[in-house]
Amino acid sequence: MAAWTEDDIPDQTGRTAIVTGANTGIGFETARALAQKGAAVTLACRNPEKGKDAVERIRALQPSGSVELRVLDLSDLQSVSSFSEAYVADHERLDLLILNAGVMVPPKSETAQGFELQFGVNHLSHFALTGQLLPLVQRTPEARVVVVSSTAASFGTMNFEDLQFAERGYQAWPAYGQSKLANQLFTRELQRRLQGAGETALVTAAHPGWTATDLQRSSGLASFFNPFFAQKPPMGALPTLRAATDPDAAAASYYGPRGIGQMRGAPVVVPMVRAASKDADAVQLWEVSEELTGVRYDLVRS
Ligand SMILES: NC(=O)c1ccc[n+]([C@@H]2O[C@H](COP(=O)([O-])OP(=O)(O)OC[C@H]3O[C@@H](n4cnc5c(N)ncnc54)[C@H](OP(=O)(O)O)[C@@H]3O)[C@@H](O)[C@H]2O)c1
Repeated sequence: MAAWTEDDIPDQTGRTAIVTGANTGIGFETARALAQKGAAVTLACRNPEKGKDAVERIRALQPSGSVELRVLDLSDLQSVSSFSEAYVADHERLDLLILNAGVMVPPKSETAQGFELQFGVNHLSHFALTGQLLPLVQRTPEARVVVVSSTAASFGTMNFEDLQFAERGYQAWPAYGQSKLANQLFTRELQRRLQGAGETALVTAAHPGWTATDLQRSSGLASFFNPFFAQKPPMGALPTLRAATDPDAAAASYYGPRGIGQMRGAPVVVPMVRAASKDADAVQLWEVSEELTGVRYDLVRS
């Protein structure tokens, strides 16, 4: 089958999208491609200067496009609430919510609310953001939520006794793996609850294989090998773009590169990790996420 490329993205005119962490890397390329296909794109970024620069770069490529910056710091639930309230006040619809922003193996650090940074930024704040924007998603026909995970989910485990690595001591890679497994569990559980409520919104997930971005800033080894193995950001964004726009995407489907070890190549449907199929974990993660963020969805499990 022919490789899926940006040319396969259907026209997005009239559609609205939010991309978190859109100032650089995979998020930037995702926002850029959607804008070039006609979507009105909101870049949700924590750093206003970097965000403005990204908006200008996209406008230079697509002068007629609708691109805006809104500040969103996922390390603070207050910022998530402020962003969501303002976005809901200003918009009638939300076609694509792309949960892309992420941090990988930072030194031990915490969010404003005291959560381990990777669990807080990569999962909890995206959970809160989605919950607060859900009314818009629900009222938009053919809306999608896209969650960006990683092959790192394969070594992730959910330790519900110590989600914040407080008891066992901070371990950067296991914490990253846990956060990326949480992304997959969230994808499945959100889709299940939406379907149970009779909602048509699709939830999909993607991972970019190995892509050279700023993500590797805290891992000297990964940065060192980037020039040899990593693909470039426009290629790394394709699984996300396919998950967001392929008309044939199935509920809770997961896209990644088709090459060896899913490290590089054109995007195809790939299986989620086995641990993501544990329904009890998906339910527990949902409940604990509601408790920790204080954001309760109006969706019950059927
Ligand atoms: N690159 C890979 O090989 C790879 C592999 C598997 C999965 N992924 C996933 O792909 C996604 C995108 O990563 P990337 O490779 O494009 O990395 P990146 O270039 O480092 O981009 C990450 C984005 O997230 C933003 N971000 C970080 N902390 C944030 C916060 N507290 N609030 C709001 N935004 C925040 C960053 O903002 P700043 O620029 O201000 O830091 C940046 O815009 C992540 O979810 C990552 O886990 C990447």
